[in-house]
Amino acid sequence: MSTTRHVYIDNAATTRLDERVLESMIPYLREDYANANSPHRPGRKTHVAVEEARELVASVIGAEPAEIIFTSGGTESNNSVINGVLSAREKRHLITSNAEHHAVLHPVKSAANWGAVHTILPVNTQGRVTTDQVADAITNETVLVSLMHGNNEVATLNPLKEIGEICRNKNILFHSDTVQTVGKIPVDVDDLGVDFLSISAHKLYGPKGVGALYARSGASWKPWMEGGSQERKRRGGTLNVAGIVGMAKALQLATEEMQQNQAHISALKARLMQGLKDRLGEHVQFNGDQQEGLYNILNCSFIYPDHPAIDGEMLLLNLDIEGIYCSNGSACTSGAIEASHVLLAMDIPYAVAKSSIRFSLSKYNTVDDITYIIDKTEAILRRMTTRT
Ligand SMILES: Cc1ncc(COP(=O)(O)O)c(C=O)c1O
Repeated sequence: MSTTRHVYIDNAATTRLDERVLESMIPYLREDYANANSPHRPGRKTHVAVEEARELVASVIGAEPAEIIFTSGGTESNNSVINGVLSAREKRHLITSNAEHHAVLHPVKSAANWGAVHTILPVNTQGRVTTDQVADAITNETVLVSLMHGNNEVATLNPLKEIGEICRNKNILFHSDTVQTVGKIPVDVDDLGVDFLSISAHKLYGPKGVGALYARSGASWKPWMEGGSQERKRRGGTLNVAGIVGMAKALQLATEEMQQNQAHISALKARLMQGLKDRLGEHVQFNGDQQEGLYNILNCSFIYPDHPAIDGEMLLLNLDIEGIYCSNGSACTSGAIEASHVLLAMDIPYAVAKSSIRFSLSKYNTVDDITYIIDKTEAILRRMTTRT
């Protein structure tokens, strides 16, 4: 079936590259291709570009340039912290939550293979942990607390500042996966009290496969990615110069244009929520913190008790046919589609969690996109619920 319109509304998964970011990268893909660690003149030129990018990334989050380590993205940054802290320290207890991205949950669980123990805090019905939960979970053995800033499925923000204070008082390292918040809301490492944070360029109109790890000066950890002596021996591997330059440009633009992007995207999200509520009434439920959470993510469940076959997967397929590209948090394990671990962690019943989809908006979405989504979602659900 051919579609007339294409609406990409899956921006928490990844974003379109901003043209200005692409422009900034092209010279480093074309003529300035030298290895940034080579001592010759072209190498020195790309080295300068990398160091300028480092300064920019650092300044955006209130860090020092030496505290920025370039990585391949959020997953690598998260793995580096969890494994790197454990291998540098004697203590063995990690704390995280059950609503984290798998790029935190899996390395935390895998660390058990080499003797680490963990506490996985249960989030509340909005997907948030409390400071009391963290304080109560800390033991003499706790070495690292890792809690995300903004949740990638349900938009909820954790109270990082208060948790950071607890960690600092107890001399425990604090990491946050800030992949979904950097470039969208202000993130300052001192304000949040973090020792480590993870950044990914492709979530903020930058290129895929590049990210950064902030590691506070003096925080003890060992490099996870061993190899050459790049990044002051903290991350081996030839630097992705074009990607790093692109990430810095994307961060610069996201910071300069944060207010206008926020105003535009928040208005679209409010319109989408209102439109779905008006058309679907009690059949739509919004999951997560839609008041104070991230302004670009809307997670909805569609509840039709007489039609239990309505699930997110079917909805996604039907929306896809109409040219609407969104997602759900489900994982496909050996062919079986499972409900999102985040929604289940929030005590949302399995059937409701399975019926949910996530719209995540970008600066490129328009009012017409939203109208189209509302119309098509209503029509698809009507069709699915009137079938005999
Ligand atoms: C919260 C969160 N953490 C980590 C990641 C992984 O980042 P990357 O794709 O850069 O490895 C993602 C991306 O889906 C994410 O949303």
